[in-house]
Amino acid sequence: MNRIESAFDLTGRVAVVTGAASGIGLETASVLTEAGARVIVSDRDDEATMRAADSLDGAVPFAADVTDRSAVSALADAAESLGPISIWVNSAGVITTRAVVSEMTEEALDLLIGVNLKGTFWGAAEAVRRMTATKTAGSIVNLSSFGGENAVEGLSGYAITKAGVNMLTRTLAKEVGPAGIRVNAVAPGFVETNMVTYQYRDEAGHIDEKRRTAYLEMMASGSPLKRIGTTTDIALAILYLAADASGFTTGQILRPNGGTSMV
Ligand SMILES: NC(=O)c1ccc[n+]([C@@H]2O[C@H](COP(=O)([O-])OP(=O)(O)OC[C@H]3O[C@@H](n4cnc5c(N)ncnc54)[C@H](O)[C@@H]3O)[C@@H](O)[C@H]2O)c1
Repeated sequence: MNRIESAFDLTGRVAVVTGAASGIGLETASVLTEAGARVIVSDRDDEATMRAADSLDGAVPFAADVTDRSAVSALADAAESLGPISIWVNSAGVITTRAVVSEMTEEALDLLIGVNLKGTFWGAAEAVRRMTATKTAGSIVNLSSFGGENAVEGLSGYAITKAGVNMLTRTLAKEVGPAGIRVNAVAPGFVETNMVTYQYRDEAGHIDEKRRTAYLEMMASGSPLKRIGTTTDIALAILYLAADASGFTTGQILRPNGGTSMV
């Protein structure tokens, strides 16, 4: 194995991916599997979790709602039955329909905070507890967003959860760096996944193809690369942060966004 291959090789490492039934989480589980990891795929419902695991070689399903701290702990127990946890990717996330601050409902704000912020917090906390106990120099990757650093009208609730994820990432990286544990975030630009289809669904919930094409073109035109991202673009960025290739990188926000924002 040459230096490049070994920097990205995850053979035998146990990796947990939350939100793994769809979109970026599913593609990440697939890429980590290809790199050799033993992946535990987790999503909130049993059937979707099983379906995701069935689509990947050797993946183990474990359904957990990330807003439930004890479920996240049970997920870590299941993962540890395969060996010490080396990688934990917090990809579970939600977005609610756009609402300006003055119109935001309490229900929507609670959901955003519960899944995106508390869910990521509990996942990262559990990963750190397990990695510390097993003295594993692991890697935690949190899904942040372009929206966590750039103000977009109507997305305040989502934005504050992702800004929180960024600060959780930095704080935790300081706390656990001396134990050799790395904590980073990936802040994608726009990727077409289930999460974003609400932008172009009609009243009955069906995708309006005309609106979809116009929306995707608009999102692509805002990027210097003149395209939207793919789930593979993001999963490969996550692979980099999960693997030894990024061994000197912690507390950072990696931004695969086609250059849409340059911080
Ligand atoms: N798609 C984008 O353009 C984009 C951009 C920036 C950031 N992100 C972030 O990437 C991550 C993945 O999003 P995606 O685009 O793949 O969306 P997605 O909707 O395809 O996947 C999100 C997954 O999270 C799961 N989930 C939701 N609530 C959960 C809960 N309580 N417990 C466990 N799982 C739960 C969903 O069931 C779903 O499978 C999210 O954190 C999202 O905020 C996405």
